Amino acid sequence: MVHTQGLIDAAFLDDPYPTYRALREAGPIHWSEDFFGGAWLLTHHADVDAALRDPRLSAQRTGGWVMDSAANRRHELLGFQQLFARAMLFLDAPEHPRIRRVLNAGFRADAMQRLAPRIKRLVDELLDSVDARSGFDFMQAVARPLPARVIAMLMGVDDADHDEFVDWSDDLAAFIGAARPTLDQARRAQASLVAMSHRFEALLAQRRRAPADDIVSRLLHAEAAGEIQAGPELLAQCAMLLFAGHETTRNLLGNGLRALLAHPAQWQALQRDPTPLPGAVRELLRYDSPVQYTGRRVACEMVLHGEQLRRGDLVLALIGSANRDPTCFTRPDVLDVTRREAKSLSFGSGPHVCIGAALTLLETETLLREVLRRWPRLGLAETAARWNGNPVYRGLASLPLRSP
Ligand code: HEM
Repeated sequence: MVHTQGLIDAAFLDDPYPTYRALREAGPIHWSEDFFGGAWLLTHHADVDAALRDPRLSAQRTGGWVMDSAANRRHELLGFQQLFARAMLFLDAPEHPRIRRVLNAGFRADAMQRLAPRIKRLVDELLDSVDARSGFDFMQAVARPLPARVIAMLMGVDDADHDEFVDWSDDLAAFIGAARPTLDQARRAQASLVAMSHRFEALLAQRRRAPADDIVSRLLHAEAAGEIQAGPELLAQCAMLLFAGHETTRNLLGNGLRALLAHPAQWQALQRDPTPLPGAVRELLRYDSPVQYTGRRVACEMVLHGEQLRRGDLVLALIGSANRDPTCFTRPDVLDVTRREAKSLSFGSGPHVCIGAALTLLETETLLREVLRRWPRLGLAETAARWNGNPVYRGLASLPLRSP
């Protein structure tokens, strides 16, 4: 085991993979002071996968963020803690499976198929508005608005409200993604969460009067059937879906397109024949995962690789490292869109495995197919892309592109 400190610097935030490699080679488990005042880091694929399935590790972990950021002012952040902690991502059984059952239906393959033509229309609208010849920022013009509009459409949020929702959600991502959140980040996240839930309350009231074919109406139906509780439990799921629905997909679109354009032979091969695109999207997810790690709290004392994990300890499952583990992937640092090894942990594993995976894959494939068709000579502009500096939600702040 290595004791790490000072792991997260600018070089790590730009490219964490050399650090992951060094940690992986040094052993499967380390103690790090860099995260939330101290956490266990799991570096190997097998352990990350097992941890996400292990009932001795609890998904209830939001208290750590709040305590870490608020020091002696925890009372200020009670609103955040009480609301967001109810989201199913942070719950164990029996609450978690009860809520997951309600939401599953909204994300099934048939629901996705019904969405496909609407997603294609949105992709066309966004790409039509871009002047690719003179250059554009892909993040601002496409990667940011597309997933936000898709998840808003799915949930029943009004078009006019997108930008505000995205800004609120960015504040949540900055807080949740920080390895050591500051009080200021926590306050902003709380204010945004409260604003978001007020807007959802208004939408819920509307849908109570006139239900529609959207997730908010589905949640209300479940509330009437006694499957989900009105108030914070219901609002927390709305906020979580909206947040999870676009922070991550945005970064898959950006990281994925950047990686493809940096490998022109693979870009050109897909252009000649886009048939392998679904596999290519999986490889882009593995290669530069939009979620780099997730956490669990130790609920029962346990020993892992000889280390004693105590009740309450935080365990971070390093998905970004697992996806580059050479025991699972041949030449893991190489992007290979024809790769068949499908063990990437980018969507997690076990009971909390991503509910939005099919939606994300559909969005990304639809977009990339259209970009490949429209702009065969698309390339990275001279101005370099900028990373967002978020160690969890790894993504680009800007991705300047040009199609001569
Ligand atoms: C590239 C896109 C995405 C990635 C990489 C991703 C990744 C993940 C990961 C790693 C988890 C598991 C977290 C854990 O176990 O702690 C997760 C869970 C979740 N994701 Fe995603 N996600 C993506 C897109 C989406 C979308 C589009 C939605 C919603 C529409 C979504 C909603 C959720 C929800 C609600 C959970 C919690 C599931 C549960 O607790 O049962 N995600 N996601």
